[in-house]
Amino acid sequence: MTKSRLFRLWLVLGSVFTVLLIIAYWDSVGTAHFHLHTALSRPHPLQPRASPGPGLAAASDVEEFLEKLLGAGGKRGAGPGETAEQPAPGNVEESVRGYDWSPRDAPPGPDPDARQAARRSVLRDFCANASFVFPTKERSFDDIPNYELNHLIVDDRHGVIYCYVPKVACTNWKRVMIVLSESLLDQGAPYRDPLDIPREYVHNSSTHLTFNKFWRRYGKFSRHLMKAKLRKYTKFLFVRDPFVRLISAFRSKFQLENEEFYRRFAVPMLRMYSNHTSLPASVSEAFSAGLKVSFANFIQYLLDPHTEKLAPFNEHWRQVHRLCHPCQIEYDFVGKLETLDQDAAQLLRLLKVDKRLHFPPSYRNRTASSWEEDWFAQIPLAWRQQLYKLYEADFVLFGYPKPENLLRD
Ligand SMILES: *[C@@H]1O[C@H](CO)[C@@H](O)[C@H](O)[C@H]1NC(C)=O
Ligand SMILES: *[C@@H]1O[C@H](CO)[C@@H](O)[C@H](O)[C@H]1NC(C)=O
Ligand SMILES: *[C@@H]1O[C@H](CO)[C@@H](O)[C@H](O)[C@H]1NC(C)=O
Ligand SMILES: *[C@@H]1O[C@H](CO)[C@@H](O)[C@H](O)[C@H]1NC(C)=O
Repeated sequence: MTKSRLFRLWLVLGSVFTVLLIIAYWDSVGTAHFHLHTALSRPHPLQPRASPGPGLAAASDVEEFLEKLLGAGGKRGAGPGETAEQPAPGNVEESVRGYDWSPRDAPPGPDPDARQAARRSVLRDFCANASFVFPTKERSFDDIPNYELNHLIVDDRHGVIYCYVPKVACTNWKRVMIVLSESLLDQGAPYRDPLDIPREYVHNSSTHLTFNKFWRRYGKFSRHLMKAKLRKYTKFLFVRDPFVRLISAFRSKFQLENEEFYRRFAVPMLRMYSNHTSLPASVSEAFSAGLKVSFANFIQYLLDPHTEKLAPFNEHWRQVHRLCHPCQIEYDFVGKLETLDQDAAQLLRLLKVDKRLHFPPSYRNRTASSWEEDWFAQIPLAWRQQLYKLYEADFVLFGYPKPENLLRD
């Protein structure tokens, strides 16, 4: 008995020491040299799925320790998760479809904390509801491959994790994350104003610390670190109506000249769905020849089973639940683009950084949900219904009502 306890203690201490050394090493060096990590690693299993034994016990102890460590050193904002949650009344302005959101005209709405509690409870309820299913819903956090964790940006200085969703104000939230984490310097000093950061740096993935980079830094302890951070940090994301997000993606990637998206997506779409055989090499030539992908081509591409056989959806149209794993990660704050200004102010207050920085003013020529009917008028009913199925989990999890007007004759 004492022997086995001693053995466990030794395992725990050994693991903790290893983790600390590795963290210290990787943080100061920051590059991938696996020899040190390998030399220090101990050959005990840390997979949480392993049969109960000393390895498993040590693993959970390591997590507990990491959590304490993070908790002790963390200058984190108050997590909303700490307040008791009461299911709150539904969100009035969101249940009106086609409502043309403009923050200035928006009705006062329910109190912001109640609104957050309501959004989180919808998410929790549907994640727990066994009759609501979608692919990958039932897998655990450990089963999510690293490359699918590339949208989770970590700020260790304030204890914040942001899952970015393209087409949902992500440029500005990434800017905020850069300012908070001081991950980018301007002539030796960290940026203080989000709007000073040039756009090309904002979207360069080397600017941000994301979960998928943990493996290189922390080796086999990366999952434990991630889980400890997920428990301690304030986690947030911003979402918007899934169909409006698709219109927005289409407008920005196919109606404006974009060389990359022209080559990677528009050319194959025009070939496959519009019978074009010879297409110009550049987007400007194509546009002057009147060759543009139609919204119908785009929808056909999304519905084509062939598309995902080649590669997962591009992040601009990939479902939010596939980018952010909301049933595996318990988000503390679910913001919506439809209430961006209020949500941004509330979130910065929660993170206790509202004195230091302001969320950049929102882009006023945003894709409005009231345009939806016009956009979908050219799309056959059967396609709209299939498209709804494809994005249904996002509608349901984030409390967007089913667009009945588009799904019936
Ligand atoms: C669970 O999900 C199903 C299917 O979406 C739905 O009909 C049902 O009302 C949900 N149950 C609860 C308790 O929310
Ligand atoms: C991103 O930043 C890195 C490091 O600053 C740089 O080497 C790289 O060229 C940048 N990539 C792009 C696409 O700008
Ligand atoms: C493309 O060509 C095929 C076969 O030639 C034809 O059946 C189809 O209707 C054409 N599609 C369009 C969009 O022109
Ligand atoms: C806003 O977007 C619409 C549709 O894309 C466009 O016609 C209009 O010129 C834009 N307005 C401004 C001020 O950019």
